Amino acid sequence: MLDQPPSLTNVNAPDRAARDPAPMKFSAIPLLVCLLVPVAHAGEHERELIRLVRQDCGSCHGMQLTGGLGLPLTPQALRGKPEETLVATVMYGRGGTPMPAWRTILSEQDAEWIVARLVEGFPQEQR
Ligand code: HEC
Repeated sequence: MLDQPPSLTNVNAPDRAARDPAPMKFSAIPLLVCLLVPVAHAGEHERELIRLVRQDCGSCHGMQLTGGLGLPLTPQALRGKPEETLVATVMYGRGGTPMPAWRTILSEQDAEWIVARLVEGFPQEQR
C-alpha cells in the first residue's frame, strides 16, 4: 500500500519542480545572453552612426567633414569648442542656418558619441 507506483509519484512532479531551487543554476545562460547581446548591438549601432554622419552630415559638412555648406567638423576646426555646445547644436540645430535639429533621429547619447568622435577625428566607414 505504501509503495506507490511510479505514475502516482509523478503527479507531484510539477509542484516539486516549482519549489526546487536547482533549476536556478540554468539562469546563468540567459543572463549571459542578456549581457552580451547589447554589446554586439552597440557595435552595430555605432556603425550605423558612422554611416549616418558620413552620408547625411557629410552632405553638408563635406564627405571628409572638411566643410561645405556646413562648417568643417575636423578636430582642428572643433578645437576649444565645448562639447556640450556641439551636442546641443546637433540635437537642436542652429536657428537661422541650414543646420537642422537631429533630436528626432538621434538620442542625446548618440549626439554625445558623435561629437566625442568628431573632436578626436571621425572614424571612416568600414566596408
Ligand atoms: C542641411 C545641411 C546640414 C546638415 C545635413 C548637417 N549640418 Fe551641421 N551645420 C550646418 C551648418 C550650415 C552649420 C553652421 C551653422 C552656423 O553657421 O553656425 C552647421 C554646424 C554644425 C556644428 C557646429 C560646428 C561648430 O564649429 O560650431 C556641428 C557640431 C554640426 N553641424 C554637426 C552636424 C552633424 C553631426 C550632422 C549630422 C547628424 C550635421 N551637422 C548635419 C549644416 C548642416
